[in-house]
Amino acid sequence: MKKLLASYGRDDEFRAVAEQIITEEEKKNNLALAKTLRKTLEGGPSRPSAPKALAPLLPFPEAASDFIERIEPQHTKGDIVLSATNVRVLLGLVKEFRRGEDLRRHGLQTRSKVLFCGPPGCGKTLCAEIFAAELGLPFFVVKLDRLISSYLGETASNIRKIFEFARKQPCVLFFDEFDALARARDESGEHNELRRVVNSLLLFIDQIRPKGFLIAATNLDQSLDPAVWRRFDEVVWFERPDRRMIDRFLRMKFKNVATAFDPTAFASSLEGYSYAEIERVCIQAIKSMIVERRKQVQERDFNRALKDETRRRSNSARLKAGS
Ligand SMILES: Nc1ncnc2c1ncn2[C@@H]1O[C@H](COP(=O)(O)OP(=O)(O)O)[C@@H](O)[C@H]1O
Ligand SMILES: [Mg+2]
Repeated sequence: MKKLLASYGRDDEFRAVAEQIITEEEKKNNLALAKTLRKTLEGGPSRPSAPKALAPLLPFPEAASDFIERIEPQHTKGDIVLSATNVRVLLGLVKEFRRGEDLRRHGLQTRSKVLFCGPPGCGKTLCAEIFAAELGLPFFVVKLDRLISSYLGETASNIRKIFEFARKQPCVLFFDEFDALARARDESGEHNELRRVVNSLLLFIDQIRPKGFLIAATNLDQSLDPAVWRRFDEVVWFERPDRRMIDRFLRMKFKNVATAFDPTAFASSLEGYSYAEIERVCIQAIKSMIVERRKQVQERDFNRALKDETRRRSNSARLKAGS
């Protein structure tokens, strides 16, 4: 039992010790107990591809649980299409992280604060998740809107707790919708407390040297305030896919699906769409096949799905223009 507790956070070791306990119970002829233990173990979360955790997880500050969430990555690098440039930048960050000790011995810091920019639906959130999974680091998502709006009085101390945590615990701390911060600062006007909170958050970002990574994602691009992005060690751009990337994405989405046509023939009609939009077209086409009980996706399924997406796009453009 002591061994079991000592292996907390190290999945493989935990499993090995648990197996050992079960075998011992079987030997003692406690078959019913052994059976339920085995069932519980098998039924538990299995993370076959998760690399070993780098350190046991520190307890997370309780006050933070309202605006921060630990997410178990569900995707791997095979699920994302990235430009060659972004692959190079991201791999560079991984390498630096892994050689962090060597760099620090030479008096150099690793790049650890990264800004993801680009239009919605182009993989910022997905990439942050996969990045954490690849590094074997726990992935924490900070809900900025909640952090900013709730408990104004306590926010500053909550922020301090998050950063205290990220300074000690190797993890990927992800600020999604980082624009909320810039917006809050612009809108704060006379609201001094809000302004103070935003400023203290920016100040903390300036000062922190995370043990893992701090990644912030924003949809704003040109209009991004230089005061915000100079705080980051690296900026990664997520663009809408060009034809070649659309091609790759379509191949990926139809890898395990029987089609009566070549989906990549649609690549040029999908130019200008985000990955999320193209994905929706693929899923709708595949759903038509299932709903209509066919064995293959037909060209007309795809065409219809594409038409629906186009309609949806023009509607949302109209809504935006009206707002
Ligand atoms: N580069 C990409 N490669 C593969 N799938 C993608 C990519 N970008 C977006 N997607 C799909 O669209 C969904 C939404 O993307 P997301 O990462 O949330 O976009 P963003 O954070 O940039 O708004 C993802 O869950 C994924 O299914
Ligand atoms: Mg996102």
